[in-house]
Amino acid sequence: MIEPHKLLGVRDLSVRFATEAGPVLAVDRVSFDIARGETLALVGESGSGKSTAALSLMGLLGAAGGATLSGRIDLRLKNGSTHDINRLSARELRRVRGNEMAMIFQDPMSSLNPVYTIESQICEAIILHQKTAWPAARRRALELLHSLGIPNPEKCMTSFPHQLSGGMRQRVMIAVALSCEPRLLIADEPTTALDVTIQAQIIELLKRVQSWTGMAILFITHNLGLVAELGGRVIVMYAGRVVEQGKVAEVFSHPCMPYTQALLRSLPRLRRARAPRQRLQAIPGNVPSAVDRPAGCAFHPRCGFAAKGMCDTRLPALEDCGGGHLAACLRWRDIASGKAA
Ligand SMILES: Nc1ncnc2c1ncn2[C@@H]1O[C@H](COP(=O)(O)OP(=O)(O)OP(=O)(O)O)[C@@H](O)[C@H]1O
Ligand code: SF4
Ligand SMILES: [Mg+2]
Repeated sequence: MIEPHKLLGVRDLSVRFATEAGPVLAVDRVSFDIARGETLALVGESGSGKSTAALSLMGLLGAAGGATLSGRIDLRLKNGSTHDINRLSARELRRVRGNEMAMIFQDPMSSLNPVYTIESQICEAIILHQKTAWPAARRRALELLHSLGIPNPEKCMTSFPHQLSGGMRQRVMIAVALSCEPRLLIADEPTTALDVTIQAQIIELLKRVQSWTGMAILFITHNLGLVAELGGRVIVMYAGRVVEQGKVAEVFSHPCMPYTQALLRSLPRLRRARAPRQRLQAIPGNVPSAVDRPAGCAFHPRCGFAAKGMCDTRLPALEDCGGGHLAACLRWRDIASGKAA
């Protein structure tokens, strides 16, 4: 069960894929909550399990997606009842998707159907989930496109996806996702393919829609600059596990886990503020292979603070390093007090 103000409660979520190279533990005992109206950013390098976690929340993995899931994903529905996504039938899941939560994918072309007009794609989503007739769905679709800043919504409605610019397609994807007024919007790298100006507009737009509707947003990104703009809370993932989480302002000003510290050092804007002449630092080494994770702390082969006989054998649990800011590092106290070499 989840607390009354919580919309989503994820507990010990693990996702395993069977691959030719062996089992891949893409998500390893991940737990987190999302409150109503909250913004939660999920960050981490490529392959850390962000999309797999997001797809699990949408019920898009499991047997049909070739994955084995364990743990709970409790979602509070609009009617107040809570359900474990992992235990819903395919029919129930279809109802939850769209009505209760919706997802924006990185590449709008992969989720918009190239052979249907924008009008039919948005209207069908509205009709399916809200059981309205076409004229009412059409009015709603036009309103949405207008509110998303699309200059000529009537013209956009009669267009096919390939006739629109990347920024327009992304807005249409957002319109499809928002058409059913979800209480949770999952946005998986929604701005990566877009130029910086459009990125900023999309972020502004999501914030605006959030302030009207009170929906919660789970925002997945590599871009810590965007996380700083979004505010709210952040979860840092490494090799399938949560390694740090807390309020963005707190985690960014006092990162406890060396991986988060390294990510923040590689962020140009924050670095500029502190050290204008220093070069951007890349994190040395590579993300570990998903089929052959290092023992102990998975970050130890890349960590400047790794202690032999400790970090390579013991798996760090998340610990509270103050005010609900959690970090998974065996040496965070030594590092924070400057005692770690
Ligand atoms: N369908 C699948 N079959 C096998 N392995 C998979 C599958 N989907 C993901 N993986 C593996 O699971 C791990 C996590 O992948 P995931 O796509 O969730 O990472 P990510 O954090 O979203 O990365 P990116 O930032 O590149 O999008 C990776 O090692 C990936 O290769
Ligand atoms: S547990 Fe050890 S290896 Fe892992 S981040 Fe902390 S100091 Fe580095
Ligand atoms: Mg991804």
